[in-house]
Amino acid sequence: MRVMAASSFSRNLARHVSSLHRFRHFSSSSSPKLPRSSNKGRWLTGAAVGIAVAGGAYVSTVDEATFCGWLFSATKLVNPIFALLDPEVAHRLGLSAAAHGWFPREKRPDPSSIGLEVWGRKFSNPLGLAAGFDKNAEAVDGLLGLGFGFVEVGSVTPFPQDGNPKPRIFRLREEGAVINRCGFNGEGIVAVAKRLGAQHGKRKLDETSSTSTSSNDEVKNGGKSGIGILGVNLGKNKTSEDAAADYVQGVHSLSQYADYLVINVSSPNTPGLRTLQGRKQLQDLVSKVQAARDEMKWGEDGPPPLLVKIAPDLSKDDLEDIAAVALNLHLDGLIISNTTISRPDSVSRNPVAAETGGLSGKPLFDLSTNILKEMYILTKGKIPLIGCGGISSGEEAYKKIRAGATLVQLYTAFAYAGPALIPQIKADLAECLERDGFKSILDAVGADFR
Ligand code: FNR
Repeated sequence: MRVMAASSFSRNLARHVSSLHRFRHFSSSSSPKLPRSSNKGRWLTGAAVGIAVAGGAYVSTVDEATFCGWLFSATKLVNPIFALLDPEVAHRLGLSAAAHGWFPREKRPDPSSIGLEVWGRKFSNPLGLAAGFDKNAEAVDGLLGLGFGFVEVGSVTPFPQDGNPKPRIFRLREEGAVINRCGFNGEGIVAVAKRLGAQHGKRKLDETSSTSTSSNDEVKNGGKSGIGILGVNLGKNKTSEDAAADYVQGVHSLSQYADYLVINVSSPNTPGLRTLQGRKQLQDLVSKVQAARDEMKWGEDGPPPLLVKIAPDLSKDDLEDIAAVALNLHLDGLIISNTTISRPDSVSRNPVAAETGGLSGKPLFDLSTNILKEMYILTKGKIPLIGCGGISSGEEAYKKIRAGATLVQLYTAFAYAGPALIPQIKADLAECLERDGFKSILDAVGADFR
């Protein structure tokens, strides 16, 4: 297929250049003192037109996939500009770009080897965008359009809250890391529900449900209209004393839009939140949230799977407790992991490491992958695990999969490298599978233990 957009772009360019030439001709004829520069100008204009026409002719011979690759590569040009901006301003700009459709859209199909089915949902690839990037579900379509297999919005709290004072996001550039202490800044469930309702249509709830705001939207492949898989990550308000009630409110308001739900009990920036990972607390919390979800009447697709997102700073005993709860209550999955409050040796020389908050990015890779491995063993491979923490290449995504992850997520590397990283990781991941003789992602899950 010829690239119509590209060739019309070059035609327009040629038109603009020739109108520029007309303008210069007009201005030079009205200023007779400049005949030599007018001659030079004609040459320059002619050369520009020639280059534009030749470029346009070349571009028009290029197929859609190549052109799409160019667009993704071109996004690398803006990375140095983003790097100069305050991290939160850069993030806001990136999010707006995605929300306004200014990011390229992935037109190239994913290699079939990296497609998989989990919880009865079809993922065209296992690479997701982790929670925290699109806290208020402002840019789901644009982010899915980049070629992520799934996007997780949130964490969403029942009421809007400002989060911690700024600055609260810090780059450790050389280490490929970030420290954040955002503290669940967000617009709250009402705003997010409104946005998701408008963007994606609703999961088809049974008409008889009391909590139902049912719609007649056709629901296929994950329970929402539109491509890709949407996860909704739930949090609690800072001052709320009944954590379970906050998560239950999230379930009531948002689960009809979600392909999966996450109980986030692992952000280090909400006081007391991580104590909910204790055996008894987690058992109580998950039971209440499951009950709230199951009380809602669901159509034939069933309710969205429920996952818990855990911290990387847990002892062996803590992990055993979480695994026991997960198995007892038939939890649908675990996300491993959130940011770490520890400061690995690799960041200790950077003065920014002294900032309070959760560390993400490359220095988190080993820690989060080790926890992932332990959890895969403890849960005997019976529960799908999402590996998250420090992924910045296809090889690292593959290592998480071999360590027991069925799906993977990233945030920090995307913030540094931008959209071009997504197709690169997927292509490299497909190569890793082929290199090691795996026909599919599911064949490689937990391969380190076989
Ligand atoms: C996060 N993360 C996060 N996680 C979560 O469950 N809810 C949230 O609201 C946030 N917010 C958030 C903000 C910022 C600025 C960052 C950098 C991270 C954690 C994120 O989802 C992920 O678990 C970690 O960042 C580890 O993955 P990466 O970044 O190393 O790929």
